[in-house]
Amino acid sequence: MNIGIIGMGVMGHNLALNMADHDFQVACYNRTASVTEEVFKKYPHANMHAFYNLEEFVNALEKPRKIMLMIKAGQAVDAVIGQLLPLLSTGDIILDGGNSFFQDTIKRSAELEAKGIHYFGVGISGGEEGARKGPAIMPGGKKEIYPQIQDILESIAAKAEGEPCCHYIGTDGAGHFVKMVHNGIEYADMQLLAETYLLLKEVAGLSNKEISDIFVDWNKGELHSYLLGITADILADKDVDGTDLIDHILDLSSQKGTGKWTGIEALNEGIDVSLITAACNARFMSNFLTERQSGSKLISKTAVHPQVKDDFIESVRKSLYVGKIVAYAQGFSLYKAASTKYEWHLDLGEIASIFRGGCIIQARFLNDITNAYAAEKTAANLLFTQFFLKQVNANKQDLQLCVKTAIDYDLPVPALLNAIGYLNIASSKWMGANLIEAQRDYFGAHTFARTDKTGKFHHIWQHRKI
Ligand code: 6PG
Repeated sequence: MNIGIIGMGVMGHNLALNMADHDFQVACYNRTASVTEEVFKKYPHANMHAFYNLEEFVNALEKPRKIMLMIKAGQAVDAVIGQLLPLLSTGDIILDGGNSFFQDTIKRSAELEAKGIHYFGVGISGGEEGARKGPAIMPGGKKEIYPQIQDILESIAAKAEGEPCCHYIGTDGAGHFVKMVHNGIEYADMQLLAETYLLLKEVAGLSNKEISDIFVDWNKGELHSYLLGITADILADKDVDGTDLIDHILDLSSQKGTGKWTGIEALNEGIDVSLITAACNARFMSNFLTERQSGSKLISKTAVHPQVKDDFIESVRKSLYVGKIVAYAQGFSLYKAASTKYEWHLDLGEIASIFRGGCIIQARFLNDITNAYAAEKTAANLLFTQFFLKQVNANKQDLQLCVKTAIDYDLPVPALLNAIGYLNIASSKWMGANLIEAQRDYFGAHTFARTDKTGKFHHIWQHRKI
């Protein structure tokens, strides 16, 4: 057997089938035997082999063994590693294909390397369909070991313009970090689309089908993306009784935590990912459904008179585009900071190129990001690369207009608001931080730097006599 997969859930068995399709002999194991039985009954494949005993599963693998864990992130990963360890030999490779927290991956890598076992944290994106037909893959681990798993990973990965959407990312937790921020951007993309839908419904008064048609149209241009495409599908789909299914879905959204981790890590690194955090907070707030509904009767609201206006629809399109640019600029700024801190030497252009296919955030404009970094390798912020600067300047007024309209209509658009807030900060000559420094010095003698002299200064601030 060329590789073993532990975990026959949705992602695990689809990855196994994908590998089997690419002529790899795949050993499959799941803690609960009935899950494996079910998979093999439903999807029999000559290159897939079921095992019901962990030792037999491990012994069936060619050496050095390659074992991919497709199990729930967290304690389960440590538990399975613990069961595997006595069965493995020096030089074997464990790959964790789940959404593990990157710090856990750093810790596990160090512990396993000390025992002679190589560990790869492999970010995998694309959901069920991606796993089956070709996901985007972000492997992190020892560079010199990567060639041993490269063929399998690159064969099963999605292809964009003939290139596999899989590249070696960096050491230990780099792959999982890149996947974590991918998910943060995914949250931002989804929230921006939700706000776009809200504006087109509430301000332009369009039906779900009309919005779906508009999204199909937008998807032919610079906004082309997987998420926009599926959103067009969702808005056109029907319930069994022929009514729009979207209207029957409760107005509250869940999350498994990767977007939240992105926000926390950004705070740790001192990087502003406010749009991603806003998207996360919007999901939290959505769950206060009863409170929100009571609030809608308590806080005065402007009456909305929807009106279809082509100009406004075009402004919404442009706002979505600028919002996306800001979300990616924030996410990629976090990559840059983490790359320096963890010495991962992340290639930002290459990361964007991995995202071009297979993953949830795949989009046409990722090519522009790759090109922007190719032209300006050390760009401090994606926003200030030539191409994106031009896009932002050409479309910013439309974003302002949409945000102003949303404010006038009392509509919740936290991601768009953050997009404009971030642009204003990122382009501010003066942002009032001198007053913060004065306040810190006033109450805590924290000192301040001056515009006219070098060094740190403290002032004995005088109470106003009134
Ligand atoms: C992917 C996705 C996936 C994620 C789901 C759900 O790239 O395939 O990011 O990894 O788990 O999209 O995430 P939430 O439940 O947090 O929305």
